[in-house]
Amino acid sequence: MRAVISGVGHYLPEQKLTNRDLEKMVDTSDEWIVGRTGIRERRILEKGKGTSFMAVRAAKMLLDQKNLPADELDLILLATVTPDMPVPGAVSLVQKGLKARNAWGFDLNGGCSGFLYALASASQFIETGKYRKVLVIGADKMSSIIDYGDRNTCVIFGDAAGAVLLEGAEDCEEVGIMDFDLKMDGEGADFLHVRGGGSLHPASAESVRNKMHYVFQDGKAVFKRAVTEMTDISKTVLDRNRLSKEDIRFLLPHQANIRIIDAVSRKLGLTSEQVIVNIENYGNTTAATIPLAMSEAYEKKLLQKGDWLLLSAFGAGFTWGSLLMRWGMGEITGSGS
Ligand code: UT7
Repeated sequence: MRAVISGVGHYLPEQKLTNRDLEKMVDTSDEWIVGRTGIRERRILEKGKGTSFMAVRAAKMLLDQKNLPADELDLILLATVTPDMPVPGAVSLVQKGLKARNAWGFDLNGGCSGFLYALASASQFIETGKYRKVLVIGADKMSSIIDYGDRNTCVIFGDAAGAVLLEGAEDCEEVGIMDFDLKMDGEGADFLHVRGGGSLHPASAESVRNKMHYVFQDGKAVFKRAVTEMTDISKTVLDRNRLSKEDIRFLLPHQANIRIIDAVSRKLGLTSEQVIVNIENYGNTTAATIPLAMSEAYEKKLLQKGDWLLLSAFGAGFTWGSLLMRWGMGEITGSGS
């Protein structure tokens, strides 16, 4: 039994925050942002709405496309670093919003690798035969934890959600999740974090005064490590599956910085036609980047059944990983229900 992606969806807030807008907020320029990151604009979710709002909409797009009732879902995994509130998990709000009465689920905080962690975890529930339909969502309202007075971080991040459905396919030599490798190095916590709002530094007047509820990032250190680890782990996964760069239809990388994506692609020997990039329009949407890019690529009919896709990410923790799959959509739509 292999786990196959049988549906995709995404949600993007309407409000755009452009580089020109940011020029009026901090000491930056469109030229610097485009040149150093590849980002031109990002989306911002309005006040009064949380991450679950976007996650529900991404999932509804998927369910509507498949004409699948939400009560057929067995499990929902929500990768996010920005749950609506500390308790309950945002996945409870997603389950309620979808009326997915028969599903349980959990939030998963794997930083920018969260979607890969969640997808790999979900695949195990399918492969064991325990569950038939698992929804995996990556969603983040990064604007809720960004200091729009800090030019080091505010130009990078945006808000979005993406969702995929995993189903089992028995006769599936040619499609589905084939392999993954996931890693973590807790020493990286110093370089990318939000210090306040947890049990160590609960919210207080002092934590707000000290800006402890915002993202801190040592960009250069994260950048270097991201290039090394995403490249190395992608090579490991390709080598042990005896695949060469020519076999890969698309690398679908976490969208953190166009220079990271370009460096990893170059080191893997991939051409630009083999790499899916949408960072220009949305910035870094943390757990949402990969499912959002996948859903857009599907809409553009870029993905054909049997295509080899290599997903790779690096983020807070540090966390990182790569996942190898053969695209299988279309073939199993509606099966198993
Ligand atoms: O997704 C989770 C993982 N995150 C990542 O993978 C992000 C990794 N890091 C990055 O993408 C990049 O490091 C950044 C985009 C965050 C920063 O780019 P950089 O090329 O590493 O710049 P830097 O931090 O080394 O700063 C270079 C210069 C500095 O000025 P000085 O000290 O050379 O005078 C910064 O103060 O650029 C300055 N700078 C800016 N200037 C204009 C930093 N941010 C800005 C800005 N506008 N927004």
